[in-house]
Amino acid sequence: MAYPHLLSPMRCGALHLNNRVWMAPLTRSRAAQPGDVPSELNAEYYAQRANAGLIVSEATQISRQGQGYAWTPGIYTEPQEAGWQRVVQAVHAAGGKIVLQLWHVGRISHPLLQENGAAPVAPSAITANAQCFVVQPDGTPANVPTASPRALDSSELPAIAQDYAAAAARAKRAGFDGVEIHMANGYLLDQFLCTGSNQRTDDYGGNIENRARFPLEVLDAVIGVWGPERVGVRLSPFGTFNDMQDREADAMAVYLARAFQEREIAYLHIAEPDWAGGPTLSDEFRHNLRHEFSGSLVWTGGYDAQRADEMIQSGLADAIGFGRPYIANPDLVNRFAHQAPLNAPDVNTFYGGGTAGYTDYPCWQPS
Ligand code: PHB
Repeated sequence: MAYPHLLSPMRCGALHLNNRVWMAPLTRSRAAQPGDVPSELNAEYYAQRANAGLIVSEATQISRQGQGYAWTPGIYTEPQEAGWQRVVQAVHAAGGKIVLQLWHVGRISHPLLQENGAAPVAPSAITANAQCFVVQPDGTPANVPTASPRALDSSELPAIAQDYAAAAARAKRAGFDGVEIHMANGYLLDQFLCTGSNQRTDDYGGNIENRARFPLEVLDAVIGVWGPERVGVRLSPFGTFNDMQDREADAMAVYLARAFQEREIAYLHIAEPDWAGGPTLSDEFRHNLRHEFSGSLVWTGGYDAQRADEMIQSGLADAIGFGRPYIANPDLVNRFAHQAPLNAPDVNTFYGGGTAGYTDYPCWQPS
Protein backbone atom coordinates (compact mmCIF):
# COMPACT_ATOMS: atom_id res chain seq x y z
CA MET A 1 0.00 0.00 0.00
CA ALA A 2 1.18 3.52 -0.75
CA TYR A 3 2.03 5.68 2.28
CA PRO A 4 1.24 3.00 4.89
CA HIS A 5 1.86 5.30 7.87
CA LEU A 6 -0.16 8.25 6.59
CA LEU A 7 -3.05 6.03 5.54
CA SER A 8 -3.25 3.97 8.74
CA PRO A 9 -6.05 4.51 11.28
CA MET A 10 -5.43 6.40 14.49
CA ARG A 11 -6.96 7.23 17.81
CA CYS A 12 -7.07 10.91 18.74
CA GLY A 13 -8.48 11.46 22.23
CA ALA A 14 -11.98 9.97 22.09
CA LEU A 15 -11.96 9.88 18.28
CA HIS A 16 -11.19 6.87 16.10
CA LEU A 17 -10.07 8.10 12.70
CA ASN A 18 -9.75 6.15 9.45
CA ASN A 19 -6.44 7.72 8.43
CA ARG A 20 -3.93 10.43 9.35
CA VAL A 21 -4.70 12.81 6.47
CA TRP A 22 -6.43 15.75 8.11
CA MET A 23 -8.20 18.53 6.27
CA ALA A 24 -6.72 21.75 7.63
CA PRO A 25 -8.93 24.73 8.52
CA LEU A 26 -9.47 26.89 5.42
CA THR A 27 -11.25 30.25 5.23
CA ARG A 28 -13.49 30.12 2.14
CA SER A 29 -15.80 33.08 2.88
CA ARG A 30 -18.96 31.48 1.58
CA ALA A 31 -21.37 31.62 4.54
CA ALA A 32 -24.92 32.56 3.56
CA GLN A 33 -25.94 36.19 4.04
CA PRO A 34 -27.26 37.87 6.02
CA GLY A 35 -26.16 36.32 9.28
CA ASP A 36 -22.98 34.38 8.30
CA VAL A 37 -24.90 31.10 8.30
CA PRO A 38 -23.48 27.78 7.00
CA SER A 39 -25.54 26.64 4.00
CA GLU A 40 -26.31 23.55 1.92
CA LEU A 41 -23.44 24.57 -0.36
CA ASN A 42 -21.05 24.47 2.58
CA ALA A 43 -22.47 21.07 3.61
CA GLU A 44 -21.82 19.70 0.12
CA TYR A 45 -18.24 21.02 0.16
CA TYR A 46 -17.41 19.41 3.49
CA ALA A 47 -19.20 16.14 2.66
CA GLN A 48 -17.13 15.85 -0.53
CA ARG A 49 -14.05 15.87 1.73
CA ALA A 50 -15.32 13.33 4.29
CA ASN A 51 -12.52 10.94 3.28
CA ALA A 52 -10.14 12.95 5.51
CA GLY A 53 -9.26 11.23 8.77
CA LEU A 54 -10.53 14.40 10.42
CA ILE A 55 -11.92 17.63 8.96
CA VAL A 56 -11.07 20.77 10.91
CA SER A 57 -13.68 23.33 9.89
CA GLU A 58 -12.82 26.77 8.63
CA ALA A 59 -12.19 29.29 11.41
CA THR A 60 -15.59 30.22 12.86
CA GLN A 61 -16.20 33.35 14.94
CA ILE A 62 -17.52 32.79 18.45
CA SER A 63 -19.11 36.25 18.59
CA ARG A 64 -19.74 39.29 16.47
CA GLN A 65 -16.76 40.90 18.21
CA GLY A 66 -14.63 37.95 17.08
CA GLN A 67 -15.18 38.54 13.35
CA GLY A 68 -12.48 40.03 11.12
CA TYR A 69 -13.58 39.15 7.63
CA ALA A 70 -16.94 39.46 5.91
CA TRP A 71 -18.78 36.22 5.01
CA THR A 72 -16.96 33.89 7.42
CA PRO A 73 -19.38 31.67 9.38
CA GLY A 74 -20.27 32.14 13.02
CA ILE A 75 -21.35 29.83 15.85
CA TYR A 76 -23.15 32.26 18.15
CA THR A 77 -26.73 32.42 16.76
CA GLU A 78 -29.51 29.84 16.41
CA PRO A 79 -29.46 29.90 12.57
CA GLN A 80 -25.67 29.41 12.59
CA GLU A 81 -25.99 26.42 14.92
CA ALA A 82 -28.73 24.94 12.71
CA GLY A 83 -26.63 25.51 9.59
CA TRP A 84 -23.63 23.77 11.14
CA GLN A 85 -25.89 20.89 12.20
CA ARG A 86 -26.73 20.28 8.52
CA VAL A 87 -23.01 20.41 7.65
CA VAL A 88 -22.16 17.88 10.35
CA GLN A 89 -25.01 15.57 9.30
CA ALA A 90 -23.76 15.62 5.70
CA VAL A 91 -20.18 14.82 6.77
CA HIS A 92 -21.31 12.02 9.07
CA ALA A 93 -23.60 10.58 6.38
CA ALA A 94 -20.55 10.43 4.10
CA GLY A 95 -18.59 8.57 6.79
CA GLY A 96 -16.41 11.46 7.96
CA LYS A 97 -15.56 13.19 11.22
CA ILE A 98 -15.43 16.95 11.76
CA VAL A 99 -14.39 19.33 14.53
CA LEU A 100 -15.25 23.03 14.64
CA GLN A 101 -12.50 25.63 14.90
CA LEU A 102 -13.37 28.31 17.47
CA TRP A 103 -12.09 31.76 16.45
CA HIS A 104 -11.85 35.27 17.82
CA VAL A 105 -9.79 37.61 15.63
CA GLY A 106 -9.00 40.22 18.29
CA ARG A 107 -7.27 43.19 16.63
CA ILE A 108 -7.54 41.77 13.07
CA SER A 109 -10.83 43.56 12.51
CA HIS A 110 -12.47 46.85 11.71
CA PRO A 111 -15.38 48.98 13.03
CA LEU A 112 -17.34 48.10 9.87
CA LEU A 113 -17.52 44.51 11.16
CA GLN A 114 -18.21 45.37 14.80
CA GLU A 115 -21.46 46.13 16.58
CA ASN A 116 -22.20 49.88 16.59
CA GLY A 117 -18.92 50.53 14.78
CA ALA A 118 -16.90 49.73 17.89
CA ALA A 119 -13.11 49.42 17.82
CA PRO A 120 -11.73 45.86 17.70
CA VAL A 121 -10.36 44.49 20.98
CA ALA A 122 -6.87 43.22 21.79
CA PRO A 123 -4.58 42.56 24.77
CA SER A 124 -2.86 45.89 24.10
CA ALA A 125 -3.73 48.91 21.98
CA ILE A 126 -1.19 48.05 19.27
CA THR A 127 -2.34 48.21 15.67
CA ALA A 128 -1.36 45.30 13.43
CA ASN A 129 0.13 46.03 10.04
CA ALA A 130 -2.33 43.59 8.44
CA GLN A 131 -5.50 43.40 6.40
CA CYS A 132 -9.07 42.44 7.13
CA PHE A 133 -12.00 42.14 4.74
CA VAL A 134 -15.12 44.27 4.94
CA VAL A 135 -18.22 45.21 3.01
CA GLN A 136 -18.04 49.00 2.73
CA PRO A 137 -21.04 51.27 3.37
CA ASP A 138 -21.66 51.53 -0.41
CA GLY A 139 -21.94 47.72 -0.60
CA THR A 140 -18.61 46.96 -2.25
CA PRO A 141 -16.31 44.43 -0.55
CA ALA A 142 -12.67 45.36 0.06
CA ASN A 143 -9.50 44.35 1.85
CA VAL A 144 -8.69 47.20 4.23
CA PRO A 145 -5.99 47.80 6.85
CA THR A 146 -6.98 46.58 10.30
CA ALA A 147 -8.20 49.32 12.65
CA SER A 148 -6.55 50.45 15.89
CA PRO A 149 -7.74 48.16 18.68
CA ARG A 150 -8.83 48.99 22.20
CA ALA A 151 -6.98 47.20 25.02
CA LEU A 152 -9.28 44.84 26.93
CA ASP A 153 -9.75 45.48 30.62
CA SER A 154 -9.10 42.31 32.63
CA SER A 155 -12.69 42.54 33.91
CA GLU A 156 -13.89 41.88 30.34
CA LEU A 157 -11.99 38.61 29.89
CA PRO A 158 -14.42 36.26 31.69
CA ALA A 159 -17.20 37.28 29.29
CA ILE A 160 -15.00 36.43 26.30
CA ALA A 161 -14.09 33.06 27.82
CA GLN A 162 -17.84 32.60 28.31
CA ASP A 163 -18.39 33.37 24.60
CA TYR A 164 -15.97 30.54 23.78
CA ALA A 165 -17.84 28.19 26.13
CA ALA A 166 -21.22 29.16 24.66
CA ALA A 167 -19.89 28.62 21.13
CA ALA A 168 -18.44 25.27 22.21
CA ALA A 169 -21.84 24.29 23.61
CA ARG A 170 -23.52 25.23 20.31
CA ALA A 171 -20.92 23.13 18.46
CA LYS A 172 -21.80 20.21 20.71
CA ARG A 173 -25.52 20.62 20.05
CA ALA A 174 -24.79 20.82 16.31
CA GLY A 175 -23.26 17.35 16.56
CA PHE A 176 -19.58 18.06 15.94
CA ASP A 177 -17.05 15.41 16.96
CA GLY A 178 -15.06 17.99 18.92
CA VAL A 179 -13.60 21.48 18.74
CA GLU A 180 -10.25 23.06 17.95
CA ILE A 181 -9.32 26.30 19.72
CA HIS A 182 -7.57 28.71 17.36
CA MET A 183 -4.54 30.07 19.26
CA ALA A 184 -2.56 30.71 16.06
CA ASN A 185 -1.88 33.08 13.18
CA GLY A 186 -2.08 36.38 14.99
CA TYR A 187 -5.67 36.22 16.21
CA LEU A 188 -6.87 37.08 19.73
CA LEU A 189 -5.38 34.23 21.75
CA ASP A 190 -2.10 34.38 19.82
CA GLN A 191 -2.07 38.13 20.48
CA PHE A 192 -2.03 37.31 24.19
CA LEU A 193 0.75 34.73 23.76
CA CYS A 194 3.23 36.85 21.79
CA THR A 195 5.49 39.61 23.08
CA GLY A 196 4.93 41.86 20.04
CA SER A 197 1.19 42.20 20.66
CA ASN A 198 0.96 41.81 24.45
CA GLN A 199 2.45 44.61 26.50
CA ARG A 200 0.08 44.29 29.43
CA THR A 201 1.35 44.97 32.92
CA ASP A 202 -1.34 42.97 34.77
CA ASP A 203 -1.64 39.20 35.37
CA TYR A 204 -2.24 38.68 31.63
CA GLY A 205 1.02 40.15 30.35
CA GLY A 206 4.75 40.08 31.02
CA ASN A 207 6.20 36.62 31.57
CA ILE A 208 5.25 33.44 29.75
CA GLU A 209 2.93 32.22 32.48
CA ASN A 210 1.01 35.51 32.40
CA ARG A 211 0.83 35.72 28.60
CA ALA A 212 -0.53 32.16 28.47
CA ARG A 213 -3.07 32.79 31.23
CA PHE A 214 -6.04 33.91 29.16
CA PRO A 215 -5.59 31.33 26.38
CA LEU A 216 -5.49 28.61 29.07
CA GLU A 217 -8.55 30.07 30.80
CA VAL A 218 -10.34 29.78 27.47
CA LEU A 219 -9.10 26.22 27.06
CA ASP A 220 -10.39 25.32 30.51
CA ALA A 221 -13.78 26.88 29.74
CA VAL A 222 -14.05 24.80 26.55
CA ILE A 223 -12.88 21.63 28.32
CA GLY A 224 -15.68 22.32 30.79
CA VAL A 225 -18.13 21.86 27.92
CA TRP A 226 -16.51 19.02 25.96
CA GLY A 227 -14.08 17.22 28.25
CA PRO A 228 -10.41 17.22 27.21
CA GLU A 229 -10.59 14.17 24.94
CA ARG A 230 -12.53 16.05 22.23
CA VAL A 231 -10.58 19.30 22.36
CA GLY A 232 -7.56 20.27 20.25
CA VAL A 233 -5.51 23.46 20.06
CA ARG A 234 -3.83 25.12 17.09
CA LEU A 235 -0.61 27.12 17.54
CA SER A 236 1.72 28.85 15.09
CA PRO A 237 5.04 29.27 16.90
CA PHE A 238 7.47 31.57 15.05
CA GLY A 239 4.70 32.60 12.65
CA THR A 240 4.81 36.16 11.32
CA PHE A 241 1.42 36.32 9.56
CA ASN A 242 -0.74 39.22 10.77
CA ASP A 243 2.33 41.18 11.90
CA MET A 244 3.29 38.85 14.74
CA GLN A 245 6.58 38.73 16.65
CA ASP A 246 7.46 36.72 19.73
CA ARG A 247 10.83 36.92 21.46
CA GLU A 248 10.06 33.69 23.36
CA ALA A 249 8.31 31.52 20.78
CA ASP A 250 10.31 28.42 21.63
CA ALA A 251 9.82 28.61 25.39
CA MET A 252 6.14 29.54 25.04
CA ALA A 253 5.43 26.53 22.82
CA VAL A 254 7.09 24.19 25.33
CA TYR A 255 5.22 25.82 28.24
CA LEU A 256 1.90 25.37 26.42
CA ALA A 257 2.66 21.78 25.39
CA ARG A 258 3.16 20.99 29.09
CA ALA A 259 -0.11 22.70 29.98
CA PHE A 260 -1.89 20.67 27.28
CA GLN A 261 -0.27 17.49 28.54
CA GLU A 262 -1.49 18.19 32.09
CA ARG A 263 -5.00 18.70 30.80
CA GLU A 264 -4.80 15.62 28.52
CA ILE A 265 -6.31 17.32 25.49
CA ALA A 266 -6.77 15.24 22.35
CA TYR A 267 -4.35 16.99 20.03
CA LEU A 268 -1.90 19.80 19.38
CA HIS A 269 -1.99 21.16 15.83
CA ILE A 270 0.93 23.25 14.63
CA ALA A 271 0.50 25.64 11.69
CA GLU A 272 4.01 25.70 10.28
CA PRO A 273 5.47 28.86 8.81
CA ASP A 274 4.62 28.29 5.16
CA TRP A 275 2.30 30.53 3.09
CA ALA A 276 2.09 32.77 6.14
CA GLY A 277 5.82 33.48 6.52
CA GLY A 278 8.38 32.78 9.25
CA PRO A 279 11.41 30.52 9.66
CA THR A 280 11.32 26.78 8.98
CA LEU A 281 10.84 24.77 12.18
CA SER A 282 13.94 22.98 13.43
CA ASP A 283 14.08 19.26 14.18
CA GLU A 284 15.08 20.16 17.71
CA PHE A 285 11.87 22.13 18.13
CA ARG A 286 9.80 19.24 16.79
CA HIS A 287 11.50 16.85 19.21
CA ASN A 288 10.92 19.23 22.12
CA LEU A 289 7.17 19.33 21.49
CA ARG A 290 7.02 15.56 21.01
CA HIS A 291 8.86 15.12 24.29
CA GLU A 292 6.36 17.30 26.20
CA PHE A 293 3.10 16.19 24.63
CA SER A 294 1.89 12.61 24.32
CA GLY A 295 -1.50 13.36 22.74
CA SER A 296 -1.80 13.51 18.97
CA LEU A 297 0.70 15.88 17.40
CA VAL A 298 -0.36 17.28 14.02
CA TRP A 299 1.64 19.47 11.61
CA THR A 300 0.27 21.45 8.68
CA GLY A 301 2.04 23.44 5.99
CA GLY A 302 3.34 22.51 2.57
CA TYR A 303 3.50 18.73 3.02
CA ASP A 304 3.19 16.19 0.24
CA ALA A 305 2.19 12.58 0.93
CA GLN A 306 5.76 11.29 0.95
CA ARG A 307 7.05 13.78 3.52
CA ALA A 308 3.89 13.33 5.59
CA ASP A 309 4.36 9.57 5.63
CA GLU A 310 8.00 9.96 6.72
CA MET A 311 7.07 12.38 9.52
CA ILE A 312 4.56 9.92 10.90
CA GLN A 313 6.98 7.01 10.56
CA SER A 314 9.59 9.03 12.49
CA GLY A 315 7.17 9.39 15.41
CA LEU A 316 7.32 13.19 15.35
CA ALA A 317 3.82 13.40 13.89
CA ASP A 318 0.62 11.45 14.46
CA ALA A 319 -1.21 13.12 11.59
CA ILE A 320 -0.54 15.77 8.92
CA GLY A 321 -2.93 18.53 7.87
CA PHE A 322 -3.44 19.41 4.20
CA GLY A 323 -4.89 22.79 3.24
CA ARG A 324 -4.55 23.86 -0.37
CA PRO A 325 -4.40 20.22 -1.61
CA TYR A 326 -7.84 19.71 -0.04
CA ILE A 327 -9.26 22.79 -1.73
CA ALA A 328 -8.54 21.28 -5.15
CA ASN A 329 -8.81 17.55 -4.40
CA PRO A 330 -12.02 16.54 -2.62
CA ASP A 331 -10.86 12.90 -2.90
CA LEU A 332 -7.35 13.56 -1.58
CA VAL A 333 -7.06 10.31 0.42
CA ASN A 334 -8.03 8.19 -2.57
CA ARG A 335 -5.53 10.05 -4.74
CA PHE A 336 -2.79 9.42 -2.20
CA ALA A 337 -3.76 5.74 -1.97
CA HIS A 338 -3.42 5.38 -5.76
CA GLN A 339 -0.52 7.82 -6.10
CA ALA A 340 -2.71 9.67 -8.56
CA PRO A 341 -1.91 13.21 -9.78
CA LEU A 342 -3.39 16.17 -7.87
CA ASN A 343 -5.52 19.01 -9.24
CA ALA A 344 -3.90 22.43 -8.78
CA PRO A 345 -5.89 24.93 -6.69
CA ASP A 346 -7.11 28.17 -8.28
CA VAL A 347 -6.22 31.06 -5.94
CA ASN A 348 -8.82 33.33 -7.56
CA THR A 349 -11.65 31.29 -6.05
CA PHE A 350 -10.19 30.73 -2.55
CA TYR A 351 -12.34 33.44 -0.93
CA GLY A 352 -15.97 34.22 -1.64
CA GLY A 353 -18.17 33.32 -4.59
CA GLY A 354 -20.28 30.20 -5.16
CA THR A 355 -19.69 26.70 -6.46
CA ALA A 356 -16.81 27.61 -8.81
CA GLY A 357 -13.53 26.57 -7.23
CA TYR A 358 -15.47 25.26 -4.22
CA THR A 359 -17.57 22.19 -4.98
CA ASP A 360 -16.65 21.68 -8.65
CA TYR A 361 -13.11 20.22 -8.45
CA PRO A 362 -13.22 16.78 -10.12
CA CYS A 363 -12.45 13.49 -8.44
CA TRP A 364 -9.76 11.28 -9.93
CA GLN A 365 -10.90 8.68 -12.47
CA PRO A 366 -8.62 5.70 -13.08
CA SER A 367 -8.00 5.56 -16.85
C1 PHB B 1 -7.87 34.16 6.90
O1 PHB B 1 -9.10 34.21 6.80
O2 PHB B 1 -7.12 34.82 6.19
C2 PHB B 1 -7.28 33.29 7.91
C3 PHB B 1 -8.10 32.73 8.86
C4 PHB B 1 -7.55 31.92 9.82
C5 PHB B 1 -6.21 31.68 9.81
C6 PHB B 1 -5.40 32.22 8.86
C7 PHB B 1 -5.93 33.04 7.91
O3 PHB B 1 -5.68 30.91 10.75
